[in-house]
Amino acid sequence: MSKEQLIIFDTTLRDGEQSPGASMTKEEKLRIARQLERMRVDVIEAGFPAASNGDFDAVRAVAEAIKDSTVAGLCRAFDKDIARALEAVKPAKSGRIHTFIATSPIHMEKKLRMAPDEVIVAATKAVRFARNGIADVEFSCEDAGRSDIDFLCRIIEAVIKEGATTINIPDTVGYNVPGQYAERILQLRQRIPNSDKVIWSVHCHNDLGLAVANSLAAVMAGARQVECTINGLGERAGNAALEEIVMAVHTRQDVFPCSTRIDTTQIVAASKMVSGITGFPVQPNKAIVGANAFAHESGIHQDGVLKHRETYEIMRAEDVGWNTNKLVLGKHSGRTAFKARLKELGIEVDSEQVLNSAFARFKELADKKHEIFDEDLHALMSDEVVTPDDEYYKLLSSMFHSETGESPQAKLTLSAGGAEHLSESTGSGPVDATFKAIESVATSGSQLLLYSVNAITTGTDAQGEVTVRLARDGRIVNGQGADTDIVVASAKAYINALNKLRSGAEKLNPQL
Ligand code: KIV
Ligand code: ZN
Repeated sequence: MSKEQLIIFDTTLRDGEQSPGASMTKEEKLRIARQLERMRVDVIEAGFPAASNGDFDAVRAVAEAIKDSTVAGLCRAFDKDIARALEAVKPAKSGRIHTFIATSPIHMEKKLRMAPDEVIVAATKAVRFARNGIADVEFSCEDAGRSDIDFLCRIIEAVIKEGATTINIPDTVGYNVPGQYAERILQLRQRIPNSDKVIWSVHCHNDLGLAVANSLAAVMAGARQVECTINGLGERAGNAALEEIVMAVHTRQDVFPCSTRIDTTQIVAASKMVSGITGFPVQPNKAIVGANAFAHESGIHQDGVLKHRETYEIMRAEDVGWNTNKLVLGKHSGRTAFKARLKELGIEVDSEQVLNSAFARFKELADKKHEIFDEDLHALMSDEVVTPDDEYYKLLSSMFHSETGESPQAKLTLSAGGAEHLSESTGSGPVDATFKAIESVATSGSQLLLYSVNAITTGTDAQGEVTVRLARDGRIVNGQGADTDIVVASAKAYINALNKLRSGAEKLNPQL
Protein backbone atom coordinates (compact mmCIF):
# COMPACT_ATOMS: atom_id res chain seq x y z
CA MET A 1 0.00 0.00 0.00
CA SER A 2 1.49 3.37 -0.97
CA LYS A 3 1.84 5.86 1.86
CA GLU A 4 0.29 9.29 2.10
CA GLN A 5 2.49 12.13 0.90
CA LEU A 6 4.08 14.54 3.34
CA ILE A 7 4.24 17.91 1.58
CA ILE A 8 7.55 19.67 2.03
CA PHE A 9 7.04 23.44 2.04
CA ASP A 10 10.33 25.30 1.98
CA THR A 11 10.39 28.84 3.33
CA THR A 12 14.15 29.53 3.11
CA LEU A 13 13.48 32.39 0.69
CA ARG A 14 10.90 34.00 2.97
CA ASP A 15 11.19 33.07 6.68
CA GLY A 16 14.85 32.12 6.18
CA GLU A 17 15.50 35.49 4.63
CA GLN A 18 14.02 37.20 7.68
CA SER A 19 17.18 36.23 9.61
CA PRO A 20 19.07 39.47 10.18
CA GLY A 21 21.78 39.63 7.52
CA ALA A 22 20.37 36.85 5.33
CA SER A 23 18.72 39.05 2.73
CA MET A 24 19.15 37.82 -0.84
CA THR A 25 19.03 39.41 -4.25
CA LYS A 26 16.62 38.24 -6.93
CA GLU A 27 19.39 36.28 -8.70
CA GLU A 28 20.39 34.57 -5.48
CA LYS A 29 16.78 33.65 -4.75
CA LEU A 30 16.48 32.23 -8.25
CA ARG A 31 19.57 30.06 -7.80
CA ILE A 32 18.25 28.67 -4.54
CA ALA A 33 14.75 28.18 -5.98
CA ARG A 34 16.21 26.14 -8.86
CA GLN A 35 18.12 23.96 -6.40
CA LEU A 36 14.93 23.48 -4.33
CA GLU A 37 13.09 22.46 -7.49
CA ARG A 38 15.89 20.03 -8.36
CA MET A 39 15.50 18.59 -4.85
CA ARG A 40 11.77 18.16 -5.60
CA VAL A 41 10.47 20.41 -2.84
CA ASP A 42 6.66 20.55 -3.19
CA VAL A 43 6.11 24.22 -2.30
CA ILE A 44 8.64 27.06 -2.45
CA GLU A 45 7.64 30.14 -0.48
CA ALA A 46 9.54 32.72 -2.51
CA GLY A 47 8.91 35.86 -0.45
CA PHE A 48 6.52 38.46 0.80
CA PRO A 49 5.55 40.46 -2.33
CA ALA A 50 3.95 43.41 -0.54
CA ALA A 51 7.07 43.99 1.59
CA SER A 52 9.04 45.76 -1.15
CA ASN A 53 9.34 46.05 -4.91
CA GLY A 54 12.48 43.91 -4.70
CA ASP A 55 10.58 41.14 -2.95
CA PHE A 56 7.76 41.37 -5.48
CA ASP A 57 10.21 41.07 -8.39
CA ALA A 58 11.97 38.11 -6.79
CA VAL A 59 8.71 36.21 -6.20
CA ARG A 60 7.62 36.92 -9.75
CA ALA A 61 10.96 35.77 -11.17
CA VAL A 62 10.76 32.54 -9.18
CA ALA A 63 7.14 32.05 -10.32
CA GLU A 64 8.27 32.45 -13.94
CA ALA A 65 11.23 30.08 -13.64
CA ILE A 66 9.94 27.18 -11.54
CA LYS A 67 7.85 24.48 -13.18
CA ASP A 68 7.97 21.45 -10.88
CA SER A 69 7.16 23.03 -7.49
CA THR A 70 4.27 25.21 -6.36
CA VAL A 71 5.38 28.82 -5.79
CA ALA A 72 3.81 30.60 -2.81
CA GLY A 73 3.71 34.28 -1.89
CA LEU A 74 3.09 35.35 1.71
CA CYS A 75 0.68 38.18 2.52
CA ARG A 76 -1.07 39.68 5.51
CA ALA A 77 -4.85 39.35 5.61
CA PHE A 78 -5.42 42.61 3.68
CA ASP A 79 -6.85 42.86 0.16
CA LYS A 80 -3.95 45.11 -0.91
CA ASP A 81 -1.28 42.62 0.24
CA ILE A 82 -3.17 39.70 -1.27
CA ALA A 83 -3.66 41.47 -4.61
CA ARG A 84 0.08 42.12 -4.78
CA ALA A 85 0.88 38.50 -3.96
CA LEU A 86 -1.64 37.27 -6.56
CA GLU A 87 0.09 39.42 -9.16
CA ALA A 88 3.51 38.08 -8.16
CA VAL A 89 2.60 34.38 -8.35
CA LYS A 90 0.47 34.77 -11.48
CA PRO A 91 3.09 33.42 -13.93
CA ALA A 92 3.56 30.23 -11.86
CA LYS A 93 2.52 26.92 -13.36
CA SER A 94 1.21 26.17 -9.88
CA GLY A 95 0.81 29.16 -7.56
CA ARG A 96 -0.34 29.57 -3.97
CA ILE A 97 -1.42 32.45 -1.77
CA HIS A 98 -0.37 32.14 1.85
CA THR A 99 -2.25 34.61 4.00
CA PHE A 100 -2.00 34.97 7.77
CA ILE A 101 -3.29 36.83 10.78
CA ALA A 102 -2.34 36.56 14.44
CA THR A 103 -4.72 34.62 16.68
CA SER A 104 -3.11 34.59 20.14
CA PRO A 105 -4.58 36.91 22.82
CA ILE A 106 -1.29 38.79 23.19
CA HIS A 107 -0.87 39.38 19.44
CA MET A 108 -4.53 40.33 18.86
CA GLU A 109 -4.63 42.74 21.78
CA LYS A 110 -1.14 44.27 21.77
CA LYS A 111 -0.06 44.05 18.12
CA LEU A 112 -3.19 44.07 15.98
CA ARG A 113 -5.35 45.94 18.51
CA MET A 114 -8.31 43.98 17.21
CA ALA A 115 -11.04 42.08 19.01
CA PRO A 116 -11.19 38.33 18.31
CA ASP A 117 -14.42 38.72 16.28
CA GLU A 118 -12.78 41.38 14.12
CA VAL A 119 -9.88 38.99 13.47
CA ILE A 120 -12.34 36.33 12.28
CA VAL A 121 -13.97 38.84 9.93
CA ALA A 122 -10.57 39.91 8.51
CA ALA A 123 -9.47 36.28 8.05
CA THR A 124 -12.63 35.15 6.27
CA LYS A 125 -12.62 38.23 4.05
CA ALA A 126 -8.97 37.62 3.16
CA VAL A 127 -9.47 33.98 2.27
CA ARG A 128 -12.57 34.84 0.19
CA PHE A 129 -10.62 37.52 -1.67
CA ALA A 130 -7.69 35.17 -2.28
CA ARG A 131 -9.94 32.33 -3.44
CA ASN A 132 -11.45 34.68 -6.03
CA GLY A 133 -8.00 34.97 -7.56
CA ILE A 134 -6.50 31.49 -7.13
CA ALA A 135 -7.53 27.94 -6.19
CA ASP A 136 -4.68 27.16 -3.80
CA VAL A 137 -4.99 29.21 -0.59
CA GLU A 138 -3.17 28.58 2.65
CA PHE A 139 -4.27 30.27 5.85
CA SER A 140 -1.98 30.62 8.88
CA CYS A 141 -2.97 31.47 12.44
CA GLU A 142 0.14 33.35 13.52
CA ASP A 143 1.20 32.40 17.06
CA ALA A 144 -1.22 29.47 16.99
CA GLY A 145 1.06 27.76 19.50
CA ARG A 146 -0.11 30.25 22.15
CA SER A 147 -3.67 30.74 20.87
CA ASP A 148 -6.82 29.67 22.64
CA ILE A 149 -7.92 26.34 21.18
CA ASP A 150 -11.64 27.27 21.14
CA PHE A 151 -10.85 30.43 19.21
CA LEU A 152 -8.65 28.49 16.79
CA CYS A 153 -11.56 26.10 16.15
CA ARG A 154 -13.88 29.01 15.35
CA ILE A 155 -11.58 30.88 13.01
CA ILE A 156 -10.34 27.78 11.20
CA GLU A 157 -13.85 26.41 10.64
CA ALA A 158 -14.80 29.80 9.18
CA VAL A 159 -11.83 30.06 6.78
CA ILE A 160 -12.33 26.48 5.57
CA LYS A 161 -15.91 27.46 4.69
CA GLU A 162 -14.44 30.31 2.62
CA GLY A 163 -12.33 27.83 0.67
CA ALA A 164 -8.90 27.70 2.36
CA THR A 165 -7.16 24.55 1.14
CA THR A 166 -4.30 24.33 3.66
CA ILE A 167 -4.43 25.33 7.32
CA ASN A 168 -1.13 26.13 8.96
CA ILE A 169 -0.59 26.09 12.73
CA PRO A 170 2.61 28.03 13.40
CA ASP A 171 4.47 27.83 16.66
CA THR A 172 5.69 31.33 15.88
CA VAL A 173 7.74 31.84 19.03
CA GLY A 174 8.94 28.25 19.47
CA TYR A 175 7.10 27.88 22.78
CA ASN A 176 5.54 24.42 22.40
CA VAL A 177 6.86 21.01 23.40
CA PRO A 178 6.25 17.95 21.21
CA GLY A 179 3.45 16.16 23.15
CA GLN A 180 1.50 19.37 23.67
CA TYR A 181 1.87 20.51 20.06
CA ALA A 182 0.83 17.11 18.67
CA GLU A 183 -2.21 17.16 20.97
CA ARG A 184 -3.15 20.61 19.60
CA ILE A 185 -3.08 19.33 16.02
CA LEU A 186 -5.11 16.26 16.97
CA GLN A 187 -7.71 18.33 18.84
CA LEU A 188 -8.13 20.75 15.95
CA ARG A 189 -8.55 17.93 13.47
CA GLN A 190 -11.09 16.20 15.69
CA ARG A 191 -13.08 19.23 16.80
CA ILE A 192 -13.43 21.21 13.57
CA PRO A 193 -16.34 19.70 11.59
CA ASN A 194 -14.89 20.44 8.12
CA SER A 195 -11.28 19.57 9.06
CA ASP A 196 -11.10 16.72 6.54
CA LYS A 197 -11.43 19.20 3.65
CA VAL A 198 -7.94 20.65 4.14
CA ILE A 199 -4.30 19.71 4.45
CA TRP A 200 -2.97 20.38 7.96
CA SER A 201 0.36 22.12 8.04
CA VAL A 202 2.90 22.93 10.75
CA HIS A 203 5.49 25.68 10.98
CA CYS A 204 7.78 25.54 14.01
CA HIS A 205 10.42 27.93 15.25
CA ASN A 206 13.43 26.71 17.13
CA ASP A 207 13.67 28.97 20.19
CA LEU A 208 13.81 25.96 22.54
CA GLY A 209 15.61 23.74 20.02
CA LEU A 210 12.37 21.80 19.46
CA ALA A 211 11.31 22.87 15.95
CA VAL A 212 12.07 19.54 14.28
CA ALA A 213 10.76 17.45 17.21
CA ASN A 214 7.54 19.49 17.31
CA SER A 215 7.04 19.22 13.54
CA LEU A 216 7.57 15.45 13.57
CA ALA A 217 5.23 15.00 16.54
CA ALA A 218 2.61 16.93 14.57
CA VAL A 219 3.13 14.64 11.57
CA MET A 220 2.33 11.68 13.84
CA ALA A 221 -0.85 13.58 14.81
CA GLY A 222 -1.97 13.97 11.20
CA ALA A 223 -0.17 17.03 9.79
CA ARG A 224 0.63 16.42 6.12
CA GLN A 225 2.62 19.54 5.33
CA VAL A 226 5.76 20.68 7.13
CA GLU A 227 7.14 24.18 6.65
CA CYS A 228 10.89 24.26 7.01
CA THR A 229 14.11 25.85 5.78
CA ILE A 230 17.49 24.67 4.54
CA ASN A 231 19.98 24.50 7.45
CA GLY A 232 17.12 25.62 9.73
CA LEU A 233 17.73 29.24 8.66
CA GLY A 234 15.17 31.71 9.99
CA GLU A 235 14.16 34.40 12.47
CA ARG A 236 16.01 34.24 15.83
CA ALA A 237 16.91 30.57 16.45
CA GLY A 238 15.50 29.64 13.05
CA ASN A 239 12.89 27.28 11.63
CA ALA A 240 12.67 23.49 11.50
CA ALA A 241 15.55 22.22 9.33
CA LEU A 242 14.31 20.69 6.09
CA GLU A 243 17.15 18.17 5.91
CA GLU A 244 16.36 16.84 9.40
CA ILE A 245 12.63 16.54 8.75
CA VAL A 246 13.14 14.81 5.41
CA MET A 247 15.81 12.40 6.61
CA ALA A 248 13.88 11.50 9.80
CA VAL A 249 10.84 10.56 7.71
CA HIS A 250 12.99 8.82 5.11
CA THR A 251 15.08 6.85 7.63
CA ARG A 252 12.22 5.90 9.96
CA GLN A 253 9.68 4.65 7.45
CA ASP A 254 8.83 2.04 10.09
CA VAL A 255 7.48 4.88 12.27
CA PHE A 256 6.04 7.53 9.95
CA PRO A 257 2.76 6.93 8.14
CA CYS A 258 3.84 9.10 5.18
CA SER A 259 6.74 9.72 2.83
CA THR A 260 8.15 12.66 0.85
CA ARG A 261 9.07 12.99 -2.82
CA ILE A 262 12.38 14.74 -2.03
CA ASP A 263 15.53 13.75 -3.93
CA THR A 264 17.69 13.47 -0.81
CA THR A 265 20.94 13.41 -2.81
CA GLN A 266 20.46 17.14 -3.47
CA ILE A 267 20.42 18.06 0.22
CA VAL A 268 24.12 18.81 0.76
CA ALA A 269 24.32 20.92 -2.40
CA ALA A 270 21.31 22.96 -1.21
CA SER A 271 22.85 23.38 2.23
CA LYS A 272 26.16 24.59 0.80
CA MET A 273 24.42 26.96 -1.58
CA VAL A 274 22.29 28.57 1.15
CA SER A 275 25.24 28.83 3.50
CA GLY A 276 27.43 30.38 0.78
CA ILE A 277 24.81 32.92 -0.30
CA THR A 278 23.74 34.03 3.16
CA GLY A 279 27.13 33.74 4.85
CA PHE A 280 25.55 31.68 7.65
CA PRO A 281 28.02 28.83 8.28
CA VAL A 282 26.82 25.32 9.10
CA GLN A 283 28.14 24.04 12.43
CA PRO A 284 30.36 20.95 11.93
CA ASN A 285 28.21 18.74 14.17
CA LYS A 286 24.92 19.79 12.55
CA ALA A 287 22.78 16.74 11.73
CA ILE A 288 22.86 15.63 8.07
CA VAL A 289 24.72 18.61 6.58
CA GLY A 290 27.48 19.34 9.14
CA ALA A 291 31.00 18.49 7.96
CA ASN A 292 31.31 15.90 10.77
CA ALA A 293 27.81 14.44 10.43
CA PHE A 294 29.20 11.23 8.95
CA ALA A 295 32.78 11.33 10.33
CA HIS A 296 33.83 8.60 12.75
CA GLU A 297 36.71 9.59 14.98
CA SER A 298 36.86 7.07 17.82
CA GLY A 299 38.73 3.83 17.15
CA ILE A 300 35.83 1.67 18.30
CA HIS A 301 33.43 3.44 15.92
CA GLN A 302 35.86 3.31 12.99
CA ASP A 303 36.46 -0.38 13.59
CA GLY A 304 32.72 -1.05 13.74
CA VAL A 305 31.96 0.93 10.58
CA LEU A 306 34.73 -0.83 8.66
CA LYS A 307 33.39 -4.23 9.72
CA HIS A 308 29.77 -3.37 9.04
CA ARG A 309 28.66 0.15 8.16
CA GLU A 310 25.33 -0.07 9.95
CA THR A 311 26.97 -0.62 13.35
CA TYR A 312 27.26 3.15 13.71
CA GLU A 313 25.54 4.66 10.67
CA ILE A 314 21.79 4.95 10.25
CA MET A 315 22.01 6.79 6.92
CA ARG A 316 24.43 6.67 4.03
CA ALA A 317 26.41 9.86 3.46
CA GLU A 318 25.96 9.50 -0.30
CA ASP A 319 22.16 9.39 0.12
CA VAL A 320 22.19 13.03 1.22
CA GLY A 321 24.76 14.10 -1.34
CA TRP A 322 28.06 13.79 0.53
CA ASN A 323 31.08 12.34 -1.26
CA THR A 324 29.54 13.02 -4.59
CA ASN A 325 32.38 15.32 -5.66
CA LYS A 326 32.83 14.38 -9.25
CA LEU A 327 35.79 15.20 -11.36
CA VAL A 328 33.68 16.67 -14.10
CA LEU A 329 35.97 18.60 -16.38
CA GLY A 330 39.62 19.34 -16.88
CA LYS A 331 41.71 21.88 -18.75
CA HIS A 332 41.22 20.09 -22.06
CA SER A 333 37.43 20.10 -21.84
CA GLY A 334 35.74 22.10 -24.56
CA ARG A 335 32.96 24.64 -24.57
CA THR A 336 30.31 22.05 -25.51
CA ALA A 337 31.23 19.76 -22.59
CA PHE A 338 31.27 22.78 -20.29
CA LYS A 339 27.81 23.90 -21.41
CA ALA A 340 26.45 20.33 -21.19
CA ARG A 341 27.70 19.88 -17.61
CA LEU A 342 26.14 23.19 -16.59
CA LYS A 343 22.86 21.98 -18.07
CA GLU A 344 23.10 18.73 -16.09
CA LEU A 345 23.59 20.84 -12.96
CA GLY A 346 20.42 22.74 -13.82
CA ILE A 347 22.28 25.94 -14.74
CA GLU A 348 20.77 27.27 -17.96
CA VAL A 349 22.82 29.92 -19.72
CA ASP A 350 20.85 31.68 -22.43
CA SER A 351 23.32 34.46 -23.19
CA GLU A 352 26.31 33.67 -25.45
CA GLN A 353 28.18 36.51 -23.77
CA VAL A 354 27.73 35.01 -20.27
CA LEU A 355 28.67 31.56 -21.57
CA ASN A 356 31.83 32.86 -23.23
CA SER A 357 32.94 34.78 -20.19
CA ALA A 358 32.17 31.81 -17.89
CA PHE A 359 34.07 29.46 -20.19
CA ALA A 360 37.09 31.79 -20.21
CA ARG A 361 37.05 31.84 -16.40
CA PHE A 362 36.66 28.06 -16.33
CA LYS A 363 39.81 27.71 -18.46
CA GLU A 364 41.72 30.03 -16.12
CA LEU A 365 40.57 27.99 -13.14
CA ALA A 366 41.42 24.68 -14.82
CA ASP A 367 44.94 25.97 -15.43
CA LYS A 368 45.37 26.67 -11.73
CA LYS A 369 43.46 23.77 -10.31
CA HIS A 370 43.49 20.91 -12.86
CA GLU A 371 40.51 19.08 -11.33
CA ILE A 372 37.21 20.92 -11.55
CA PHE A 373 34.31 19.64 -9.43
CA ASP A 374 30.60 20.43 -9.55
CA GLU A 375 31.02 22.74 -6.55
CA ASP A 376 33.62 24.75 -8.50
CA LEU A 377 31.20 25.14 -11.39
CA HIS A 378 28.45 26.33 -9.06
CA ALA A 379 30.81 28.95 -7.56
CA LEU A 380 32.04 30.01 -10.98
CA MET A 381 28.52 30.45 -12.30
CA SER A 382 27.36 32.24 -9.18
CA ASP A 383 30.03 34.84 -9.89
CA GLU A 384 28.67 35.15 -13.44
CA VAL A 385 25.06 35.42 -12.33
CA VAL A 386 25.52 37.57 -9.26
CA THR A 387 27.84 40.05 -10.91
CA PRO A 388 25.76 42.52 -12.89
CA ASP A 389 27.07 43.44 -16.34
CA ASP A 390 27.23 47.03 -15.25
CA GLU A 391 29.25 46.38 -12.09
CA TYR A 392 30.65 49.65 -10.92
CA TYR A 393 33.72 48.39 -9.08
CA LYS A 394 35.95 45.76 -10.66
CA LEU A 395 39.19 44.16 -9.54
CA LEU A 396 41.62 44.42 -12.45
CA SER A 397 44.80 43.14 -10.82
CA SER A 398 46.27 42.51 -7.41
CA MET A 399 49.58 41.96 -5.66
CA PHE A 400 50.09 41.01 -2.03
CA HIS A 401 53.17 40.88 0.11
CA SER A 402 53.53 39.14 3.48
CA GLU A 403 56.85 38.64 5.20
CA THR A 404 57.85 37.84 8.78
CA GLY A 405 58.45 41.08 10.66
CA GLU A 406 56.88 43.26 7.91
CA SER A 407 53.38 44.71 7.68
CA PRO A 408 51.40 42.81 5.05
CA GLN A 409 50.77 44.94 1.99
CA ALA A 410 48.19 44.94 -0.81
CA LYS A 411 48.53 46.74 -4.17
CA LEU A 412 45.38 46.73 -6.28
CA THR A 413 44.24 48.09 -9.59
CA LEU A 414 40.53 48.76 -9.41
CA SER A 415 38.08 50.13 -11.89
CA ALA A 416 35.42 52.42 -10.44
CA GLY A 417 32.78 53.48 -12.96
CA GLY A 418 35.25 52.76 -15.79
CA ALA A 419 38.12 54.84 -14.32
CA GLU A 420 41.25 52.98 -13.26
CA HIS A 421 42.70 53.50 -9.77
CA LEU A 422 45.92 52.21 -8.28
CA SER A 423 45.56 51.71 -4.58
CA GLU A 424 47.84 50.34 -1.92
CA SER A 425 47.60 49.79 1.78
CA THR A 426 49.11 47.90 4.68
CA GLY A 427 47.08 46.05 7.27
CA SER A 428 47.24 43.57 10.10
CA GLY A 429 47.03 40.79 7.50
CA PRO A 430 46.76 40.61 3.70
CA VAL A 431 42.95 40.57 3.80
CA ASP A 432 42.85 43.60 6.07
CA ALA A 433 45.32 45.40 3.78
CA THR A 434 43.20 44.48 0.74
CA PHE A 435 39.95 45.76 2.25
CA LYS A 436 41.66 49.01 3.26
CA ALA A 437 43.03 49.44 -0.26
CA ILE A 438 39.54 48.93 -1.74
CA GLU A 439 37.97 51.30 0.79
CA SER A 440 40.48 54.02 -0.01
CA VAL A 441 38.98 54.08 -3.53
CA ALA A 442 35.33 53.33 -2.70
CA THR A 443 35.03 55.34 0.56
CA SER A 444 31.77 53.50 1.13
CA GLY A 445 31.57 54.25 4.85
CA SER A 446 30.08 50.80 5.34
CA GLN A 447 30.55 48.63 8.37
CA LEU A 448 31.95 45.10 8.04
CA LEU A 449 29.58 42.76 9.88
CA LEU A 450 30.95 39.41 8.78
CA TYR A 451 33.93 37.90 7.02
CA SER A 452 33.97 34.14 6.48
CA VAL A 453 36.01 31.75 4.34
CA ASN A 454 35.09 28.20 3.36
CA ALA A 455 36.92 25.69 1.21
CA ILE A 456 34.56 24.74 -1.62
CA THR A 457 36.09 21.30 -2.13
CA THR A 458 38.85 19.35 -0.40
CA GLY A 459 42.63 19.65 -0.88
CA THR A 460 44.97 22.61 -0.63
CA ASP A 461 44.28 23.58 -4.24
CA ALA A 462 40.57 24.05 -3.40
CA GLN A 463 38.91 27.35 -4.13
CA GLY A 464 38.15 29.45 -1.08
CA GLU A 465 34.65 30.90 -1.03
CA VAL A 466 34.46 34.13 0.92
CA THR A 467 31.39 35.93 2.24
CA VAL A 468 31.56 39.56 3.30
CA ARG A 469 28.57 41.20 4.99
CA LEU A 470 28.44 45.00 4.88
CA ALA A 471 25.96 47.39 6.48
CA ARG A 472 25.26 51.00 5.63
CA ASP A 473 22.30 53.20 6.59
CA GLY A 474 20.29 50.22 7.83
CA ARG A 475 20.90 48.20 4.67
CA ILE A 476 22.73 44.90 4.85
CA VAL A 477 24.30 43.07 1.91
CA ASN A 478 26.26 39.84 1.50
CA GLY A 479 29.02 39.72 -1.11
CA GLN A 480 30.60 36.50 -2.35
CA GLY A 481 33.81 35.69 -4.15
CA ALA A 482 35.62 32.47 -4.98
CA ASP A 483 39.21 31.90 -6.04
CA THR A 484 42.09 29.50 -5.40
CA ASP A 485 43.81 32.50 -3.78
CA ILE A 486 41.75 33.38 -0.71
CA VAL A 487 42.98 36.99 -0.62
CA VAL A 488 41.73 37.45 -4.20
CA ALA A 489 38.47 35.70 -3.21
CA SER A 490 38.21 38.16 -0.30
CA ALA A 491 38.76 41.14 -2.60
CA LYS A 492 36.10 39.83 -5.00
CA ALA A 493 33.63 39.31 -2.14
CA TYR A 494 34.21 42.80 -0.77
CA ILE A 495 33.79 44.33 -4.22
CA ASN A 496 30.66 42.25 -4.85
CA ALA A 497 29.17 43.58 -1.59
CA LEU A 498 30.07 47.18 -2.54
CA ASN A 499 28.41 46.77 -5.94
CA LYS A 500 25.26 45.45 -4.26
CA LEU A 501 25.24 48.37 -1.81
CA ARG A 502 25.58 50.78 -4.72
CA SER A 503 23.04 49.21 -7.04
CA GLY A 504 20.39 48.71 -4.36
CA ALA A 505 20.11 45.07 -5.53
CA GLU A 506 19.65 44.09 -1.94
CA LYS A 507 16.66 45.05 0.13
CA LEU A 508 15.74 45.35 3.74
CA ASN A 509 14.62 42.17 5.39
CA PRO A 510 10.84 42.19 5.14
CA GLN A 511 9.49 42.42 8.67
CA LEU A 512 5.96 41.40 9.46
O1 KIV B 1 6.23 32.07 12.24
C1 KIV B 1 5.15 32.41 11.70
O2 KIV B 1 4.10 32.52 12.34
C2 KIV B 1 5.17 32.70 10.29
C3 KIV B 1 3.84 32.85 9.62
C4 KIV B 1 3.77 34.08 8.83
C5 KIV B 1 3.54 31.62 8.82
O3 KIV B 1 6.22 32.74 9.67
ZN1 ZN C 1 7.83 31.72 10.82
